[in-house]
Amino acid sequence: MYNVRKINNDLYWIGGNDRRLALFENIHPIPEGVSYNSYVLVDEKSVLFDTVDWSIARTFLDNLDHVLGGKPLDYMVINHVEPDHAASINEIILRYPKVKIISMDKAFMFMRQFDFDIDSVENIVVEPGETIKFGKHEVAFVDAPMVHWPEAMVSFDLTDGTLFAADAFGSFGALDGRIFNDEVDFDRDWIDSARRYYTNIVGKYGPHVQDLLRRASGLEIKTICPLHGPVWRNNLGYILDKYDKWSSYTPEEEGVLIIYGTMYGGTEVAAESLGRRLAERGVTNIKMYDVSKTDNSYLIADAFKYSHIVLASVTYNLNIYPPMEDFIRHMIMLNLQKRTMAVIENGSWAPQAGDKIRKLLDEMRHMNVLTDEVLINSTMKEGNRHEMDVLADSIVESFKKDKQ
Ligand SMILES: Cc1cc2nc3c(=O)[nH]c(=O)nc-3n(C[C@H](O)[C@H](O)[C@H](O)COP(=O)(O)O)c2cc1C
Ligand SMILES: [Fe+2]
Ligand SMILES: [Fe+2]
Repeated sequence: MYNVRKINNDLYWIGGNDRRLALFENIHPIPEGVSYNSYVLVDEKSVLFDTVDWSIARTFLDNLDHVLGGKPLDYMVINHVEPDHAASINEIILRYPKVKIISMDKAFMFMRQFDFDIDSVENIVVEPGETIKFGKHEVAFVDAPMVHWPEAMVSFDLTDGTLFAADAFGSFGALDGRIFNDEVDFDRDWIDSARRYYTNIVGKYGPHVQDLLRRASGLEIKTICPLHGPVWRNNLGYILDKYDKWSSYTPEEEGVLIIYGTMYGGTEVAAESLGRRLAERGVTNIKMYDVSKTDNSYLIADAFKYSHIVLASVTYNLNIYPPMEDFIRHMIMLNLQKRTMAVIENGSWAPQAGDKIRKLLDEMRHMNVLTDEVLINSTMKEGNRHEMDVLADSIVESFKKDKQ
């Protein structure tokens, strides 16, 4: 049942796809599925780079067996111990009992913690920057802490310029036989999944990703082999630029993301009336969501994409509407910063949402929170129309300031 693809001279993709899993990390919906990529280098020695999630172990093992053609596996490099990649370590050890594992100190500690049976085989502990020759290929091992876990490292094949990037440069979405970025229309079909993957999975660790990007800029990278999604073999500047923006919390687009929480529609009408006012003032890059309707992971992805975020919330038992609070707490957890924010609140007898949202926004770094207050009592009133005009003007004004 094998299904492998050749990447370049001696390197093969031997991963697979899961289209049945509903929630990645049991939290993020993945209607588009997910791929778990694994790679094997066949030189004088054979080297496996990471394993796969348990769900696709069968295909992965058949793939590996096919590429090795009956020969034993010599080395297994573990770049990342999270079980979506490391789950099949034991199975590899069972089938190839002479395999030597290459990784860094902390990763070995994690492998023991996760009960992988690594002490039955030889462990080669590499230091950051150390290289090993496997024949004509020499591979350097570079620590990449917190991209996306503390033990993470990346491996760089100095001979071919191939970067085994662990969770960096990954994307949600199952592969359909096309595994290279130039075989798909990435900017049309993949970028939203890539952004949703990065922002929700690695988004919190921007400074660590920045550090990795800085170090990678000194390397002559020709191919990027991530653990999820397409392999990059040309136009690397495109994805490096996206990663630079996402990890420095720089908006990709000047535009307004409007997220509202409503029970009976009053707050929705208010959000739409702001959208209309912005459009009338020439701001047409607008995206609007009902916070109860759209999963958080999509909202987070767009929060990283747009420069302005408007939060419109009802008061719910003297609090922020819970789905809205959940979204705000996710933004805080993921360290989102450098946005212009505005708040609209609704309450029928004791409005509290506005103050409470502003308090939460205070916890975030480099946020420009507009001071304009829009308080709606159940439904928009005449006075609100004026407040909404003022808010729309303020947003337009802040765009002008951003451009200066
Ligand atoms: C369960 C529940 C609790 C609410 N708690 C408050 C509250 O504590 N203070 C308040 O001013 N309004 C409260 N409201 C009213 C709503 O905040 C809101 O004003 C009203 O539903 C109209 O907005 P909407 O049409 O966008 O839902 C509550 C409504 C519900 C259904
Ligand atoms: Fe991970
Ligand atoms: Fe992963």
